Amino acid sequence: MIDDILDLAERHEEWRGKQCLNLIPSENVMSPAVRGLLSSDFGNRYTARDRFYMGTRFTDEIEQFGEKIAREVFKAETADLRPLSGHIADLIVIANFTKKGDTIMCVSPEDGGYPGLWKDGLAELFDLRTVPFPFSKIDMNIKVHEAKEIISHVKPKMVIFGASLITFPHPVKELAEIARENGACVGFDGSHIMGLIAGEEFQAPLSEGACALFGSTHKTFFGPQGGIVLADKEHGELIKEKIYPAFVDNAHWNRIAALTLALAEMKKFGKAYAKQVIRNSQVLAKALQDCGFPVICQHLGFTKSHQVILDFGGDKHARAVAEKLQKANIVSDCVIRIGTCEVTRRGMKEREMQKIAELIKRTVFDEENPENIKKDVAELCAEFREIEFCFKK
Ligand SMILES: Cc1ncc(COP(=O)(O)O)c(C=O)c1O
Repeated sequence: MIDDILDLAERHEEWRGKQCLNLIPSENVMSPAVRGLLSSDFGNRYTARDRFYMGTRFTDEIEQFGEKIAREVFKAETADLRPLSGHIADLIVIANFTKKGDTIMCVSPEDGGYPGLWKDGLAELFDLRTVPFPFSKIDMNIKVHEAKEIISHVKPKMVIFGASLITFPHPVKELAEIARENGACVGFDGSHIMGLIAGEEFQAPLSEGACALFGSTHKTFFGPQGGIVLADKEHGELIKEKIYPAFVDNAHWNRIAALTLALAEMKKFGKAYAKQVIRNSQVLAKALQDCGFPVICQHLGFTKSHQVILDFGGDKHARAVAEKLQKANIVSDCVIRIGTCEVTRRGMKEREMQKIAELIKRTVFDEENPENIKKDVAELCAEFREIEFCFKK
């Protein structure tokens, strides 16, 4: 049995780690040092806020160190690294700033909003009413003027920016004030674009008027899978007080040690990384369009994030394309959103984006034998095994 388990892990590592071109925008790769910390002794240990456990000397230091770098990287008054995932970070913020029967306003899943916030997710769990932002699918953004009217009328308790499909900065600056005047707490679920925010290349929700920025640490942010909450003093201190024992008990200290190192990497290399991610998306989007793919938002330069969105006019078509790509070891999701974060972390640049567009075209339009394409994919991947934007020993 042990051989079977190890064999699965090895085969997965060989396939997704070496043979595949990974274009899922929710995924990334950790540097070897960050990955190494995931198997450190921190992962065997407990701490508790009430100091129930002894032996926490270095764990406490890691937590303080991580929070300090996070505050610096995100220019936040408070940081908390304990949320176990982006979803749990969302849950912690919503649970603390709403109560049963309140209304929250966010991007509808139909417009690319995160379904976990909606009716089958946290809104149902906390008995909240959801009101969608008015949204333009043409511009892939919230309609500011209409949103102002709805906010004044509905007076939501929370207004949450951010989404799962996100190609352009959301209008926090334009809407935060009116939201606050009408009694709302303004949040930003930055799960997808946390690494771009850290690199100061997308938008800065906390200085634009959000009181809390929260989400995943493993999409454009290249840390271990997990969550983070960054906030102003007022909201952040309240969250800190409430996380334990309501939302997280032991916080998985190996993850937090790894996240601390990833934060240090982001502090040093984040700007260059985020710039290249966005540059790569823009080049890939243009190259795909030149190949005949239906890339959205040409009039806005396609994208300002790690995502390039293709509109095949329906889920069935998009899924069929994703399945074709998978046969050639090109891994995307089924929307189709193509993400450039992982390939950028592996060191790919504009030239490789042209190559990727060509590989996608050969797979989807030319219907070349996927076995041939697989070989070219593997060759391209083999050139980019090293992880970039990290400390090299
Ligand atoms: C906008 C957004 N928020 C939250 C999440 C949940 O993140 P996690 O998978 O880290 O729980 C996702 C997942 O993709 C997301 O897209």
